Amino acid sequence: MSENKMLPVDLPKAYRLLNHGPTVLVSAQHEQDTDVMAAAWACALELTPAKVTIVLDKSTKTRQLVEQSGYFALQVPCYAQIDMVHQLGTISKFDNPNKLEDCHTQIFYQAGFDVPLVKDSLAWLICKVIPEPYIQQTHDLFIGSVIAAWADPRVFKDGHWHFQNVEKELKSLHYIAGGTFYLIGDEVKASI
Ligand SMILES: Cc1cc2nc3c(=O)[nH]c(=O)nc-3n(C[C@H](O)[C@H](O)[C@H](O)COP(=O)(O)O)c2cc1C
Repeated sequence: MSENKMLPVDLPKAYRLLNHGPTVLVSAQHEQDTDVMAAAWACALELTPAKVTIVLDKSTKTRQLVEQSGYFALQVPCYAQIDMVHQLGTISKFDNPNKLEDCHTQIFYQAGFDVPLVKDSLAWLICKVIPEPYIQQTHDLFIGSVIAAWADPRVFKDGHWHFQNVEKELKSLHYIAGGTFYLIGDEVKASI
């Protein structure tokens, strides 16, 4: 089992972990029940205090755990995890109680937080739900206050992603549909 490579990210810079629009994994836990699902509809919402949004359909078990616990984590997965990501997005723990084992999803915890995190991801954001019952019910939209964030320094350092010269396995995934993803592409700079 590999050790996680993770360094803290300053919360005012946490939005950058999502700014490039990656597919994410959403994890949550209530008592002994833990789940993880894939999500394409995750977004930064505010710089300081750092906030994010995530769409969690009512059919998902992960949403139930988020509602019960009031916390979730977002992680940015990479190409090395593509099959796990797709499986986590096509199997519900409501249907398969062994979902995490069957998807080979390894969980770990950071000291001081009860929120499950997925091993070997590129970045992790632990979020506390800001309760907005109307938009949760009407639009399936959850707002989270980011209370801690980390990233793998091989790909995120000094407050920026550095995907240019990393191996394919460490590139972030961007979902299209039907099991098709794009990998993060070339870095280009505006000249003015
Ligand atoms: C790549 C991908 C992205 C997805 N994005 C979302 C999303 O943004 N919101 C959502 O509610 N479901 C999304 N889904 C579907 C959930 O991941 C799926 O319903 C999952 O099986 C729920 O698992 P659970 O019931 O164990 O929580 C996505 C699925 C895939 C494959």
